[in-house]
Amino acid sequence: MKLGVNIDHIATLRESRQISEPNPLYALPYLQAAGANQITIHLREDRRHICEDDVCAILAQSSLPVNIESSLNAEILDFLCAQRPHSITLVPERREEITTEGGLELFTNEHGIVRAIEKIANIGIIPALFVDPTRANMQKSYALGAHKVELHTGHYANLWLMLYGNLPRTRHSIKALQKSREELKSEMNACVQNLHEVAEFARNLGLSVAAGHGLNAQNVGEVAQIEAISELNIGHSIIGRAVFVGLKEAIGEILCAIDKERSKN
Ligand code: PXP
Repeated sequence: MKLGVNIDHIATLRESRQISEPNPLYALPYLQAAGANQITIHLREDRRHICEDDVCAILAQSSLPVNIESSLNAEILDFLCAQRPHSITLVPERREEITTEGGLELFTNEHGIVRAIEKIANIGIIPALFVDPTRANMQKSYALGAHKVELHTGHYANLWLMLYGNLPRTRHSIKALQKSREELKSEMNACVQNLHEVAEFARNLGLSVAAGHGLNAQNVGEVAQIEAISELNIGHSIIGRAVFVGLKEAIGEILCAIDKERSKN
């Protein structure tokens, strides 16, 4: 199981002051020392965290593979392709969202997605799609030419938060407040079961399967157990935890939680 550490939020902190520190580039030695397998960054259209200079500097200095998330924006994709990262993961983007809210909609912009995948794959970069975990999305990803899918674990992570996340009531969705803990638990179990089935289905189609969004050292186990998933991308919880224990330790905790579950298989 590979761990990609998403370091966008180091840049989020920098941008909150619009100065040069903290610089996400300086995370690289810690990621390597901690045993991370990949660096993940997202060059958003609104440049709210990572910017072009970060992409160039990180690619120039990283000894780990770099996975870059991008929307279908042609200018951004051209720029990223010219930088030759290891993989490019196509994600949906909405300006007003706090974070990537759902998977890429595959059935409404097939031509745009195929064009982007071809552009990426033709120069030897791995094209991946960040999608909601449904069989239809796996079949479509394969048909559109993706080599890899990243399953959006946000629904699972949100249910986990409602159950165990110590959220203030105001942060619970109205729908969740109307449900009992038993209902939420059974919904979360169904969600994990679906991730199992969909990951297996995607792997059988010949796709590499990654997963990510909202994962942390407490909830990652259920996803790490899924044998067909070979990569996890985790950001917010690692950077949040690093504030208290440092980046190396925070990554170590996640790796430990992953290995604990993985070794049961
Ligand atoms: N994978 C993808 C495609 C993402 O867009 C994100 C969020 O930037 C992540 C993984 C990491 O999510 P989180 O920050 O919640 O761990």
